[in-house]
Amino acid sequence: MKALICEAFGPIENQQLKDVPSPKPGPGQLLVQVKSAGVNFPDALMVQGKYQVKPPFPFSAGGEISGIVIGLGEGVTGFAVGDRVMALVSTGGFAQECLAQASRTLPLPQGMDFDTGAALMLTYCTSLHALKDVADMQPGETLVVLGAAGGVGVSAIEIGKAMGARVIAAASSEEKLAVCRQVGADDTINYSTENLKDRINELTDGKGADVVYDPVGGSYTEQALRAIKWRGKLLVIGFAAGDIPRIPLNLALLKERQILGVYWGDSTKHDPEGHQANLRQLENWFVQGRIKPLVSERFPLEHAKEAILLIANRGVKGKIVVVND
Ligand SMILES: NC(=O)c1ccc[n+]([C@@H]2O[C@H](COP(=O)([O-])OP(=O)(O)OC[C@H]3O[C@@H](n4cnc5c(N)ncnc54)[C@H](OP(=O)(O)O)[C@@H]3O)[C@@H](O)[C@H]2O)c1
Repeated sequence: MKALICEAFGPIENQQLKDVPSPKPGPGQLLVQVKSAGVNFPDALMVQGKYQVKPPFPFSAGGEISGIVIGLGEGVTGFAVGDRVMALVSTGGFAQECLAQASRTLPLPQGMDFDTGAALMLTYCTSLHALKDVADMQPGETLVVLGAAGGVGVSAIEIGKAMGARVIAAASSEEKLAVCRQVGADDTINYSTENLKDRINELTDGKGADVVYDPVGGSYTEQALRAIKWRGKLLVIGFAAGDIPRIPLNLALLKERQILGVYWGDSTKHDPEGHQANLRQLENWFVQGRIKPLVSERFPLEHAKEAILLIANRGVKGKIVVVND
């Protein structure tokens, strides 16, 4: 089978499409014929050696997939060859076949196509965990989403709306902000041309935001934090801009603001039942039409490198997927 192989950390371009043996499913594992694999920012970081998870070489990036079960390891129950599934795999998704833990695999919900299945789990689980479990966001609260046209950003807009929040989306271009409005944002801020802090205050009649969802970092974090109201919350999701901000802590003291870290991957180990409940919630919202991952581009496996470069270079709207048609 073919797979995009990373043999050493380095530039994204160094990965090679290679013929490699089919993996053999071990105990508790499924072998999945990959139909679609979601592309996420951590994939770009991982192959460069900049991500907290550093897999042994050689490996293929690609942390979430959908496809068809073609093999079952020892002790697997509840799945059969031929099942349509979606799975969180951490690595291995940018390939024709991929191993998945049965415990991190779900049947593809009825009516869900493979691309949607590959675009749902990582970003939507992150945002639901952040907004519900970490921030305890309430209906009627104002949520500001930074990097709002990106993968986790779009999911935060849709989940924010599903939870009854007013959502203000912030992004770097008018084209991206149009995407944010299309998926449900109530108001938008172009932070390349407008002052983020001033605009949040303006849009909230000087009160400030209840919750800020920040997957971007850099200079935006402090500006947004300064526009958070009394006891409001900053959710630290990621640092797509590259710089990890250093925040003056008086900004937390002054309005009893809370700065809350979010690490969805590890949270699923600390609270597996909560994670299962969140997956059921997402499935229900999908069936009810309240969330629908926006897949903006599809790349054949031969062009997977281009997909990873696009996400690293700030070029993605919603989600992109790597497909084996
Ligand atoms: N904490 C967790 O559990 C968790 C889970 C999943 C992902 N994450 C993190 O969340 C972040 C976003 O992931 P994603 O998959 O949503 O990525 P994405 O689709 O590329 O979105 C990131 C957004 O960040 C903004 N950005 C600003 N400066 C950038 C730069 N120099 N390069 C790239 N993007 C830049 C872009 O929006 P504008 O152009 O509008 O500024 C972009 O749309 C990543 O850091 C990822 O590691 C964290």
